[in-house]
Amino acid sequence: MLGIETTCDETAAAVVARDSDGKGRILSNVVRSQTDEHALYGGVVPEIAARAHVDMLDHLIDAAMREAGIDYADLNGVAAAAGPGLIGGVIVGLTTAKAIALVHDTPLIAVNHLEAHALTPRLTDAIDFPYCLFLASGGHTQIVAVAGVGDYVRLGTTVDDAMGEAFDKVAKMLGLPYPGGPQVEEAAQRGDAARFAFPRPMLGRSDANFSLSGLKTAVRNEIGRIAHVSAQDIADLCASFQAAVLESTADRLRVGLDLFKQRFGAPTALVAAGGVAANQAIRAALDDVAQQAGTRLIMPPPALCTDNGAMIAWAGLERLALGMIDGMDAAPRARWLL
Ligand code: KG4
Ligand code: ZN
Repeated sequence: MLGIETTCDETAAAVVARDSDGKGRILSNVVRSQTDEHALYGGVVPEIAARAHVDMLDHLIDAAMREAGIDYADLNGVAAAAGPGLIGGVIVGLTTAKAIALVHDTPLIAVNHLEAHALTPRLTDAIDFPYCLFLASGGHTQIVAVAGVGDYVRLGTTVDDAMGEAFDKVAKMLGLPYPGGPQVEEAAQRGDAARFAFPRPMLGRSDANFSLSGLKTAVRNEIGRIAHVSAQDIADLCASFQAAVLESTADRLRVGLDLFKQRFGAPTALVAAGGVAANQAIRAALDDVAQQAGTRLIMPPPALCTDNGAMIAWAGLERLALGMIDGMDAAPRARWLL
Protein backbone atom coordinates (compact mmCIF):
# COMPACT_ATOMS: atom_id res chain seq x y z
CA MET A 1 0.00 0.00 0.00
CA LEU A 2 1.26 3.43 -0.96
CA GLY A 3 0.38 6.09 1.63
CA ILE A 4 0.27 9.84 1.02
CA GLU A 5 0.14 12.54 3.71
CA THR A 6 -0.31 16.26 2.94
CA THR A 7 -2.77 17.60 5.53
CA CYS A 8 -0.45 20.04 7.28
CA ASP A 9 3.22 21.00 6.91
CA GLU A 10 4.74 17.60 6.21
CA THR A 11 4.79 16.15 2.70
CA ALA A 12 5.10 12.40 3.10
CA ALA A 13 4.91 9.15 1.14
CA ALA A 14 5.48 5.58 2.26
CA VAL A 15 5.01 1.99 1.22
CA VAL A 16 3.83 -0.48 3.86
CA ALA A 17 3.19 -4.21 3.52
CA ARG A 18 1.04 -6.48 5.65
CA ASP A 19 2.49 -9.91 6.27
CA SER A 20 0.39 -13.07 6.40
CA ASP A 21 0.40 -12.95 10.22
CA GLY A 22 -1.26 -9.51 10.04
CA LYS A 23 1.82 -7.58 11.08
CA GLY A 24 2.89 -4.46 9.26
CA ARG A 25 6.22 -3.97 7.54
CA ILE A 26 7.43 -0.50 6.51
CA LEU A 27 9.22 -0.77 3.15
CA SER A 28 9.85 2.97 2.87
CA ASN A 29 8.78 6.10 4.75
CA VAL A 30 9.86 9.44 3.28
CA VAL A 31 8.96 12.69 5.04
CA ARG A 32 9.84 16.20 3.98
CA SER A 33 9.05 18.80 6.64
CA GLN A 34 8.23 22.37 5.62
CA THR A 35 9.25 23.83 8.98
CA ASP A 36 11.87 26.11 7.41
CA GLU A 37 9.35 27.66 4.98
CA HIS A 38 6.96 28.51 7.81
CA ALA A 39 9.43 29.40 10.61
CA LEU A 40 9.65 32.99 9.40
CA TYR A 41 5.91 33.45 10.06
CA GLY A 42 5.78 31.72 13.44
CA GLY A 43 3.25 29.15 12.24
CA VAL A 44 1.99 27.21 9.23
CA VAL A 45 0.86 29.40 6.30
CA PRO A 46 -1.76 27.36 4.37
CA GLU A 47 -0.98 28.75 0.91
CA ILE A 48 2.76 28.19 1.30
CA ALA A 49 2.05 24.66 2.57
CA ALA A 50 -0.14 23.77 -0.42
CA ARG A 51 2.44 25.03 -2.93
CA ALA A 52 5.24 23.15 -1.21
CA HIS A 53 3.16 19.94 -1.36
CA VAL A 54 2.68 20.46 -5.12
CA ASP A 55 6.43 20.95 -5.58
CA MET A 56 7.52 17.98 -3.50
CA LEU A 57 4.91 15.23 -3.55
CA ASP A 58 5.74 13.57 -6.90
CA HIS A 59 9.43 13.37 -5.98
CA LEU A 60 8.64 11.89 -2.57
CA ILE A 61 6.31 9.26 -4.04
CA ASP A 62 9.02 8.32 -6.56
CA ALA A 63 11.57 8.06 -3.77
CA ALA A 64 9.25 5.96 -1.60
CA MET A 65 8.49 3.56 -4.46
CA ARG A 66 12.15 3.23 -5.41
CA GLU A 67 13.26 2.65 -1.82
CA ALA A 68 10.55 0.00 -1.38
CA GLY A 69 11.79 -1.66 -4.57
CA ILE A 70 8.33 -2.33 -5.95
CA ASP A 71 6.53 -1.42 -9.13
CA TYR A 72 3.24 0.52 -9.32
CA ALA A 73 1.71 -2.62 -10.87
CA ASP A 74 2.46 -4.49 -7.61
CA LEU A 75 0.49 -2.08 -5.40
CA ASN A 76 -2.65 -3.44 -3.75
CA GLY A 77 -3.90 0.08 -3.27
CA VAL A 78 -3.09 3.73 -2.73
CA ALA A 79 -4.21 5.58 0.41
CA ALA A 80 -4.27 9.33 0.97
CA ALA A 81 -5.22 11.43 3.96
CA ALA A 82 -8.47 13.04 2.76
CA GLY A 83 -8.69 15.28 5.86
CA PRO A 84 -9.02 16.80 8.33
CA GLY A 85 -6.45 19.45 7.57
CA LEU A 86 -5.52 22.47 5.49
CA ILE A 87 -7.73 22.04 2.44
CA GLY A 88 -5.15 23.06 -0.19
CA GLY A 89 -2.73 20.39 0.94
CA VAL A 90 -5.47 17.76 1.31
CA ILE A 91 -6.55 18.38 -2.31
CA VAL A 92 -2.97 17.92 -3.53
CA GLY A 93 -2.55 14.55 -1.80
CA LEU A 94 -5.99 13.13 -2.55
CA THR A 95 -5.93 14.17 -6.21
CA THR A 96 -2.50 12.62 -6.67
CA ALA A 97 -3.72 9.38 -5.09
CA LYS A 98 -6.77 9.33 -7.39
CA ALA A 99 -4.52 9.77 -10.43
CA ILE A 100 -2.30 6.88 -9.36
CA ALA A 101 -5.34 4.69 -8.62
CA LEU A 102 -6.82 5.42 -12.05
CA VAL A 103 -3.63 5.01 -14.06
CA HIS A 104 -2.52 1.82 -12.32
CA ASP A 105 -6.02 0.41 -11.81
CA THR A 106 -5.60 -0.07 -8.07
CA PRO A 107 -8.05 0.65 -5.21
CA LEU A 108 -8.21 4.12 -3.66
CA ILE A 109 -8.58 4.45 0.10
CA ALA A 110 -9.46 7.91 1.46
CA VAL A 111 -8.16 7.88 5.03
CA ASN A 112 -9.11 10.11 7.93
CA HIS A 113 -5.79 11.51 9.20
CA LEU A 114 -6.91 11.06 12.82
CA GLU A 115 -7.86 7.45 12.14
CA ALA A 116 -4.33 6.89 10.82
CA HIS A 117 -2.86 8.24 14.07
CA ALA A 118 -5.30 6.03 15.97
CA LEU A 119 -4.32 2.82 14.14
CA THR A 120 -0.52 3.36 14.13
CA PRO A 121 0.11 1.31 17.32
CA ARG A 122 -1.22 -1.73 15.47
CA LEU A 123 1.46 -1.24 12.83
CA THR A 124 4.28 -0.99 15.36
CA ASP A 125 3.06 -3.10 18.29
CA ALA A 126 0.32 -5.29 16.82
CA ILE A 127 -1.93 -4.47 19.77
CA ASP A 128 -5.54 -5.61 19.93
CA PHE A 129 -8.71 -3.56 20.28
CA PRO A 130 -9.99 -1.87 22.35
CA TYR A 131 -7.37 0.65 23.40
CA CYS A 132 -7.42 4.22 24.58
CA LEU A 133 -5.69 6.82 22.43
CA PHE A 134 -4.39 10.19 23.62
CA LEU A 135 -3.65 12.28 20.55
CA ALA A 136 -1.99 15.65 21.15
CA SER A 137 -0.51 17.60 18.26
CA GLY A 138 -0.47 21.11 16.84
CA GLY A 139 -4.01 20.65 15.53
CA HIS A 140 -5.64 18.08 17.80
CA THR A 141 -6.12 17.16 21.45
CA GLN A 142 -8.34 14.13 21.87
CA ILE A 143 -8.97 11.07 23.98
CA VAL A 144 -10.42 8.37 21.75
CA ALA A 145 -11.64 4.85 22.42
CA VAL A 146 -10.39 2.75 19.50
CA ALA A 147 -12.78 -0.21 19.49
CA GLY A 148 -12.09 -1.44 15.96
CA VAL A 149 -11.26 -0.25 12.45
CA GLY A 150 -13.82 2.47 11.75
CA ASP A 151 -15.14 2.18 15.30
CA TYR A 152 -13.93 5.20 17.26
CA VAL A 153 -15.59 6.97 20.15
CA ARG A 154 -14.33 10.37 21.15
CA LEU A 155 -14.25 10.53 24.93
CA GLY A 156 -12.71 13.97 25.27
CA THR A 157 -11.44 16.87 23.21
CA THR A 158 -10.20 20.42 23.64
CA VAL A 159 -12.87 23.09 23.85
CA ASP A 160 -10.44 25.73 22.55
CA ASP A 161 -6.73 25.50 21.60
CA ALA A 162 -4.91 22.29 20.74
CA MET A 163 -2.17 21.36 23.20
CA GLY A 164 0.71 21.77 20.72
CA GLU A 165 -0.80 25.07 19.65
CA ALA A 166 -0.70 26.26 23.28
CA PHE A 167 2.98 25.31 23.55
CA ASP A 168 3.66 27.13 20.27
CA LYS A 169 1.79 30.27 21.38
CA VAL A 170 3.54 30.42 24.75
CA ALA A 171 6.88 30.00 22.97
CA LYS A 172 6.00 32.83 20.61
CA MET A 173 5.09 35.15 23.52
CA LEU A 174 8.50 34.43 25.02
CA GLY A 175 10.35 35.03 21.74
CA LEU A 176 11.29 31.36 21.31
CA PRO A 177 11.42 29.98 17.74
CA TYR A 178 8.74 27.86 16.04
CA PRO A 179 7.83 25.06 16.61
CA GLY A 180 7.76 26.02 20.25
CA GLY A 181 7.00 22.73 22.01
CA PRO A 182 10.56 21.41 22.18
CA GLN A 183 11.85 24.92 23.10
CA VAL A 184 9.41 25.22 26.00
CA GLU A 185 10.31 21.73 27.22
CA GLU A 186 14.00 22.55 27.07
CA ALA A 187 13.66 25.90 28.88
CA ALA A 188 11.40 24.27 31.49
CA GLN A 189 14.24 21.97 32.53
CA ARG A 190 16.13 25.00 33.91
CA GLY A 191 13.08 26.61 35.47
CA ASP A 192 11.19 26.69 38.77
CA ALA A 193 7.77 25.13 38.20
CA ALA A 194 6.50 26.51 41.52
CA ARG A 195 7.27 30.17 40.82
CA PHE A 196 4.01 30.97 38.99
CA ALA A 197 0.73 29.48 40.15
CA PHE A 198 -0.99 29.04 36.77
CA PRO A 199 -4.52 27.61 36.64
CA ARG A 200 -5.05 23.86 36.12
CA PRO A 201 -7.79 23.96 33.47
CA MET A 202 -10.79 21.60 33.84
CA LEU A 203 -9.32 19.93 36.94
CA GLY A 204 -11.86 17.69 38.66
CA ARG A 205 -14.53 17.90 35.97
CA SER A 206 -16.51 14.76 35.24
CA ASP A 207 -16.12 15.01 31.44
CA ALA A 208 -12.74 14.31 29.82
CA ASN A 209 -12.39 17.57 27.90
CA PHE A 210 -9.39 19.88 27.77
CA SER A 211 -9.09 23.65 27.76
CA LEU A 212 -5.85 25.50 27.14
CA SER A 213 -6.65 29.07 26.16
CA GLY A 214 -7.18 30.31 29.74
CA LEU A 215 -3.81 28.94 30.75
CA LYS A 216 -2.23 30.60 27.74
CA THR A 217 -3.82 33.93 28.73
CA ALA A 218 -2.56 33.52 32.30
CA VAL A 219 0.98 33.15 30.94
CA ARG A 220 0.51 36.25 28.77
CA ASN A 221 -0.71 38.27 31.77
CA GLU A 222 2.23 37.15 33.88
CA ILE A 223 4.69 38.14 31.13
CA GLY A 224 3.04 41.58 31.09
CA ARG A 225 3.77 42.00 34.79
CA ILE A 226 7.52 41.42 34.37
CA ALA A 227 9.38 44.63 33.41
CA HIS A 228 12.40 42.97 31.79
CA VAL A 229 11.96 39.29 31.01
CA SER A 230 15.26 37.50 31.76
CA ALA A 231 16.37 34.04 30.65
CA GLN A 232 15.52 32.78 34.13
CA ASP A 233 12.04 34.31 33.92
CA ILE A 234 11.53 32.49 30.61
CA ALA A 235 12.67 29.20 32.14
CA ASP A 236 10.40 29.68 35.17
CA LEU A 237 7.42 30.65 33.00
CA CYS A 238 7.97 27.57 30.79
CA ALA A 239 8.36 25.26 33.79
CA SER A 240 5.24 26.64 35.50
CA PHE A 241 3.21 26.46 32.26
CA GLN A 242 4.32 22.89 31.56
CA ALA A 243 3.54 21.83 35.13
CA ALA A 244 -0.01 23.15 34.71
CA VAL A 245 -0.40 21.30 31.39
CA LEU A 246 0.90 18.10 32.99
CA GLU A 247 -1.43 18.19 35.96
CA SER A 248 -4.43 19.03 33.82
CA THR A 249 -3.55 16.33 31.25
CA ALA A 250 -3.10 13.64 33.89
CA ASP A 251 -6.45 14.54 35.44
CA ARG A 252 -8.25 14.56 32.06
CA LEU A 253 -6.76 11.19 31.15
CA ARG A 254 -7.73 9.62 34.47
CA VAL A 255 -11.33 10.65 33.76
CA GLY A 256 -11.01 9.52 30.13
CA LEU A 257 -9.79 6.07 31.18
CA ASP A 258 -12.67 5.79 33.67
CA LEU A 259 -15.17 6.63 30.93
CA PHE A 260 -13.43 4.10 28.70
CA LYS A 261 -13.75 1.31 31.27
CA GLN A 262 -17.44 2.03 31.82
CA ARG A 263 -18.17 1.61 28.10
CA PHE A 264 -15.60 -0.84 26.79
CA GLY A 265 -14.06 -2.63 29.78
CA ALA A 266 -10.32 -2.65 30.39
CA PRO A 267 -8.23 -1.16 27.57
CA THR A 268 -5.38 -3.23 26.13
CA ALA A 269 -3.21 -0.09 26.43
CA LEU A 270 -3.06 3.66 26.71
CA VAL A 271 -1.52 4.85 23.46
CA ALA A 272 0.01 8.30 23.08
CA ALA A 273 0.58 9.92 19.69
CA GLY A 274 1.14 13.34 18.14
CA GLY A 275 4.04 15.76 18.46
CA VAL A 276 3.29 16.72 22.08
CA ALA A 277 3.76 13.10 23.14
CA ALA A 278 7.45 13.61 22.35
CA ASN A 279 7.64 15.72 25.54
CA GLN A 280 9.48 13.64 28.15
CA ALA A 281 7.70 15.20 31.12
CA ILE A 282 4.30 14.56 29.58
CA ARG A 283 5.37 11.05 28.74
CA ALA A 284 6.34 10.38 32.36
CA ALA A 285 2.97 11.70 33.52
CA LEU A 286 1.18 9.43 31.05
CA ASP A 287 3.18 6.47 32.30
CA ASP A 288 1.95 7.16 35.84
CA VAL A 289 -1.66 7.54 34.73
CA ALA A 290 -1.51 4.26 32.77
CA GLN A 291 -0.04 2.40 35.75
CA GLN A 292 -2.65 3.79 38.13
CA ALA A 293 -5.36 2.65 35.72
CA GLY A 294 -3.85 -0.85 35.60
CA THR A 295 -2.79 -0.65 31.96
CA ARG A 296 0.42 0.08 30.03
CA LEU A 297 1.56 3.08 28.03
CA ILE A 298 2.49 2.47 24.42
CA MET A 299 4.09 5.13 22.29
CA PRO A 300 4.94 4.46 18.68
CA PRO A 301 8.48 5.66 17.84
CA PRO A 302 8.62 9.47 17.46
CA ALA A 303 8.92 9.30 13.66
CA LEU A 304 5.57 7.47 13.53
CA CYS A 305 3.90 9.68 16.20
CA THR A 306 4.32 12.80 14.10
CA ASP A 307 2.77 13.09 10.65
CA ASN A 308 4.07 10.52 8.15
CA GLY A 309 3.00 8.44 5.16
CA ALA A 310 3.41 5.03 6.80
CA MET A 311 0.49 5.64 9.13
CA ILE A 312 -1.73 6.54 6.16
CA ALA A 313 -0.61 3.42 4.25
CA TRP A 314 -1.27 1.26 7.32
CA ALA A 315 -4.75 2.70 7.82
CA GLY A 316 -5.30 1.99 4.11
CA LEU A 317 -4.28 -1.65 4.61
CA GLU A 318 -6.57 -2.02 7.63
CA ARG A 319 -9.50 -0.60 5.67
CA LEU A 320 -8.72 -2.58 2.50
CA ALA A 321 -8.71 -5.83 4.52
CA LEU A 322 -12.33 -5.03 5.47
CA GLY A 323 -13.32 -4.08 1.93
CA MET A 324 -13.56 -0.36 2.74
CA ILE A 325 -12.62 1.11 -0.64
CA ASP A 326 -13.45 4.61 -1.88
CA GLY A 327 -14.57 5.92 -5.26
CA MET A 328 -13.26 8.76 -7.39
CA ASP A 329 -15.89 10.97 -5.77
CA ALA A 330 -14.11 10.83 -2.38
CA ALA A 331 -14.08 14.44 -1.19
CA PRO A 332 -11.23 16.34 0.46
CA ARG A 333 -12.36 17.56 3.87
CA ALA A 334 -11.00 20.41 5.98
CA ARG A 335 -13.03 19.20 8.96
CA TRP A 336 -13.69 15.53 9.63
CA LEU A 337 -14.47 14.22 13.08
CA LEU A 338 -13.42 10.73 13.94
O1 KG4 B 1 2.05 15.80 15.38
P1 KG4 B 1 2.83 17.00 15.00
O2 KG4 B 1 4.26 16.82 14.57
O3 KG4 B 1 2.15 17.79 13.84
C1 KG4 B 1 0.81 18.14 13.83
O4 KG4 B 1 0.48 19.15 14.51
O5 KG4 B 1 0.03 17.43 13.17
O6 KG4 B 1 2.77 18.00 16.25
C2 KG4 B 1 3.45 19.22 16.25
C3 KG4 B 1 3.12 19.93 17.55
C4 KG4 B 1 3.65 21.34 17.58
O7 KG4 B 1 2.66 22.18 18.12
C5 KG4 B 1 4.85 21.24 18.52
O8 KG4 B 1 5.14 22.42 19.21
C6 KG4 B 1 4.41 20.14 19.46
O9 KG4 B 1 3.74 19.22 18.65
N1 KG4 B 1 5.57 19.52 20.11
C7 KG4 B 1 5.78 19.54 21.43
C8 KG4 B 1 7.04 18.91 21.64
N2 KG4 B 1 7.51 18.50 20.42
C9 KG4 B 1 6.58 18.88 19.50
N3 KG4 B 1 5.06 20.04 22.44
C10 KG4 B 1 5.57 19.92 23.68
N4 KG4 B 1 6.76 19.35 23.96
C11 KG4 B 1 7.53 18.83 22.97
N5 KG4 B 1 8.71 18.27 23.25
ZN1 ZN C 1 -1.23 14.50 12.66
